[in-house]
Amino acid sequence: MLPQEIIRRKRDGKALTGEEICAFTAGLADGSWSEGQIAALAMAVLLNGMDAAEGAALTLAMRDSGSVLDWSNLPGPVTDKHSTGGVGDNVSLMLAPIVAACGAFVPMISGRGLGHTGGTLDKMDSIPGYTSQPDQKRFAETVRKVGCAIIGQTGDLAPADKRFYAVRDVTGTVESIPLITASILSKKLAAGLSSLVLDVKSGNGAFMGDARAARKLAENLVRVAGEAGLSASALITDMNQPLASAAGNAVEVVNAVDFLTGEKRDRRLEDVTLALASEMLLASGIATTTREAYDRAHEALESGRAAERFGQMVSALGGPGDFVENPDKHLPRASVTLPVPAANDGFVSAIDARAVGIGVIGLGGGRRTPQDTIDHSVGFTDLLPLGAETKHGEPLCMVHASSEESARRAARIVSSAYDITDAKPRTRKTILRRVTAEI
Ligand code: URA
Repeated sequence: MLPQEIIRRKRDGKALTGEEICAFTAGLADGSWSEGQIAALAMAVLLNGMDAAEGAALTLAMRDSGSVLDWSNLPGPVTDKHSTGGVGDNVSLMLAPIVAACGAFVPMISGRGLGHTGGTLDKMDSIPGYTSQPDQKRFAETVRKVGCAIIGQTGDLAPADKRFYAVRDVTGTVESIPLITASILSKKLAAGLSSLVLDVKSGNGAFMGDARAARKLAENLVRVAGEAGLSASALITDMNQPLASAAGNAVEVVNAVDFLTGEKRDRRLEDVTLALASEMLLASGIATTTREAYDRAHEALESGRAAERFGQMVSALGGPGDFVENPDKHLPRASVTLPVPAANDGFVSAIDARAVGIGVIGLGGGRRTPQDTIDHSVGFTDLLPLGAETKHGEPLCMVHASSEESARRAARIVSSAYDITDAKPRTRKTILRRVTAEI
């Protein structure tokens, strides 16, 4: 089956057959489709869509492009969460240890940055010595011993998605409901979970900008997961501003450690993290009511047990044994720090979160081509949230950069990403909607 014929059919708005989808997926995994052909098909799907049968077939074919994990020997439920991607979204780093501290097992297979959004894996790779691509034995041992392990897609798990993801990242072909669904679910199905919670972001820093598209994506994810035998639910959460007050890689790891130890907790980040933790505890049967689930997650956090799990995970995967106690000692630090001054007195009334994400890429903290290496030390910290009061000349955030020039460039981007008005804007909800299979 010729790649160009499959591309032509999708270009012309036809539904692909199961055979054609399998041929494409095989071409992704064995390298016989070129990067250009993959990008062309991705763009054709983005423009012309896929029907439910095509979407489900792509998900299953990508799952079956590698091995499927089996956790049946673990003495507890196996659950995970996946976010559709945002800016300053370091939830996974806290969520996995919180849920593990409550008795579930979380084999979290995460991705690298995609488009303007950051990737959990890139964040974990800021930690010196941390093996984000362990072999299967070490991964399984860490999950069994610690309860959670955040790792990257090994060559063996949904390899078709690994290649597809890298091409979509740099070809403007991320924002497609069937492609996002297949990408996320193929990895999660291959991870052998018994339940999955999805964090579907909605807003200017999400791939799905408007609420309707986010809802469609959430419903599609929950439906296709159900069809593939995986129990799933979704929360739609606001992404009209960075979720944490930091955006980048090492800076988000510091933010996560501060969150776990109670040193500093960004309010909206806490809301989303605990809501997702509760959802995971309910889905995995560890709690039976939302109240009980929330209380258990909260206790795991407040008691320091979640911080302890995070430290154990880092050390089990090769990172420093004292990481939680001394993150700054180990993480790379940018050579230039620059405050971004507010242009006037007032209140932050809008933030272009996508522009902040692009700012991180401009600093070298994300990729422009699949082969790029990234600078883990750069990014933004102390980002003011929506509604914060500003004073002329006082910082909207701090830029961490590798040179004065790139710091100034990033400062200009952030400056124009922030709208400041005289009137205080109304407060927005952080958790917008819950989507379950019954809805
Ligand atoms: N996250 C993924 O894993 N894949 C996508 O396509 C988008 C977000």
